[in-house]
Amino acid sequence: MALRYVQLLIIFVLALATYKRVLASDPDILSSYIVPENNKVDANFSTYTGFWDIFDDVPGTLNITKAALAEFPALDGQNVSYAMLKYPANEDSSDWKEFNLHPHTHPHAAELLFLVGSLEVGFMDTKNVLYTQKLKVEDLFVFPKGLVHCQYNSFANLPTHADSAFGSANAGTVSVLIYMFVFGTGIDNAILVKSFKTDVGTVKKLKAGLTTHK
Ligand SMILES: *[C@@H]1O[C@H](CO)[C@@H](O)[C@H](O)[C@H]1NC(C)=O
Ligand SMILES: *[C@@H]1O[C@H](CO)[C@@H](O)[C@H](O)[C@H]1NC(C)=O
Ligand SMILES: *[C@@H]1O[C@H](CO)[C@@H](O)[C@H](O)[C@H]1NC(C)=O
Repeated sequence: MALRYVQLLIIFVLALATYKRVLASDPDILSSYIVPENNKVDANFSTYTGFWDIFDDVPGTLNITKAALAEFPALDGQNVSYAMLKYPANEDSSDWKEFNLHPHTHPHAAELLFLVGSLEVGFMDTKNVLYTQKLKVEDLFVFPKGLVHCQYNSFANLPTHADSAFGSANAGTVSVLIYMFVFGTGIDNAILVKSFKTDVGTVKKLKAGLTTHK
């Protein structure tokens, strides 16, 4: 009898853990904003200054400055956040030799990217179809929630930057290791072309992007 009780308890705990994991989105709030611990709500509480002088320097490596829940507590419960992305120049802009931002996903939010320079982007849908696009100044691009995406500065010898808005105060970032396994383990190009319903050129580009980062 006691054993049965323990078994039931284990099942209950596991079910609870699974349930919590499924609830990955931001919690709902019952007020307009969440009052901080110090109880001080003024216009400065809603003002983020972490982007001051953001574009003064030219980056040598990818630089992401975030205004998410951790950096900007006023976003608590508001389901939005922001990031400034600065990409270094790539010497050879003819190919996806180098991903500036490796394939990753944001499990909690879609991402709206506004281009201030030019950038090549790609995302893969749930049918594993890869969509790539060469974005130009003032283009706006949406990476759907949860889908794998990556970015590459294709603007010859010039750094570039973009701003990203997220539909969550904590969009989360998961790097896609499975992608590394698939494209980094020497699986035959023909098989990858078939499985991802794409062409040899795209597969070669993706593989080249990975080999430079081993
Ligand atoms: C935040 O997102 C969750 C899940 O999408 C939603 O249920 C909730 O209403 C949102 N909260 C606000 C303040 O919009
Ligand atoms: C708000 O911030 C500004 C500059 O960041 C500061 O000068 C001002 O004193 C602050 N106001 C309050 C009420 O703290
Ligand atoms: C990224 O850029 C910000 C703003 O210019 C700067 O304060 C920060 O030091 C940079 N981070 C790195 C790792 O270079």
